[in-house]
Amino acid sequence: MFYKIAQKIMFQMDPELAHEFSIKSLGLTGKTPLNIFYKQTLPKKPVEVMGITFPNIVGLAAGLDKNGECIDAFADMGFGHVEVGTVTPKAQPGNDKPRLFRLKPAKGIINRMGFNNNGVDALVANIKAVKSDVIIGVNIGKNKDTPVENGKDDYLICMDKVYDVASYITVNISSPNTPGLRSLQYGELLDELLSSLKQKQLELAEKYGKYVPLALKIAPDLSDEEIESIAGSILRNKMDCAIATNTTLDREAVAGLEHCDEAGGLSGLPVRDKSTEVVAKLYSHLKDQVPIIGVGGINSAEDAQQKLDAGAKLVQVYSGFIYNGPELIKEIVNKI
Ligand SMILES: Cc1cc2nc3c(=O)[nH]c(=O)nc-3n(C[C@H](O)[C@H](O)[C@H](O)COP(=O)(O)O)c2cc1C
Repeated sequence: MFYKIAQKIMFQMDPELAHEFSIKSLGLTGKTPLNIFYKQTLPKKPVEVMGITFPNIVGLAAGLDKNGECIDAFADMGFGHVEVGTVTPKAQPGNDKPRLFRLKPAKGIINRMGFNNNGVDALVANIKAVKSDVIIGVNIGKNKDTPVENGKDDYLICMDKVYDVASYITVNISSPNTPGLRSLQYGELLDELLSSLKQKQLELAEKYGKYVPLALKIAPDLSDEEIESIAGSILRNKMDCAIATNTTLDREAVAGLEHCDEAGGLSGLPVRDKSTEVVAKLYSHLKDQVPIIGVGGINSAEDAQQKLDAGAKLVQVYSGFIYNGPELIKEIVNKI
């Protein structure tokens, strides 16, 4: 009820202003008595994935809380895990505004944010201040001004810095808004990146005396051969998890709608079935050797169930959360 009213007001505002306002409000109210407006107590339905026991299957997808400013508030809402980031070694402003668009009739969003974030040190400080014991995934990327050939160094810097505060780390090579980033999804470049990260993970595991799993997040815009090749790299390099999918460049599902031609990645309901297909194809190669987190267009428990039926062990939501609010987490956890 409260979210419906808040949403009515926020949907009258510029999308990015509404986003900033929400992040600030949630950052101030998480784990305080003011969380009564969104706090939910959900049944515990533990699932073990990557050696971690998640209290339920629903997580917040990366990109909403890029700097980890309101992790406690999302924990209060009942998310079983919160993925923060994408974070880069240095702070960067992202692309010029406007860069965030609602496609309301389709329950979609187009964004070309471009990894706007306060840098990895600020994120680590925010995670250290978190009061709740929610599972925190940290999604890492490269700075825009780092050439793709040196991209690996940025991932290694981030990994080194977040290792001790993350429950798991996601390697994001699938955002469409950092030029050249998606080229890391293919062939030798991917193998080289993953083997370096894997080696670093083993060094850090030794240093900190704990193993922090590594996940790879992929795009929905991949051919069957590309999915097979990525699955091969995931298996060869013993990655701990795959996250499918990021946003799509495809506009077929929103043709003719206002904002449909804006550059960037499309998310929400229009990407749902495409993401589910990628989960299913990836699962046909990975089977139960490497778990999959399914993300893309989940707006209901039925949508979440479809991701599980395709082979996912956990799900994440972003756009569906914007359109449905915390009620969506409750619906999925209660029904599944
Ligand atoms: C505004 C916006 C910003 C995003 N930023 C990131 C990001 O920084 N890193 C990332 O891996 N994914 C990012 N995503 C992608 C989401 O995490 C998710 O993979 C995608 O939106 C599909 O899920 P959805 O349909 O539930 O939104 C972003 C999505 C949106 C809408």
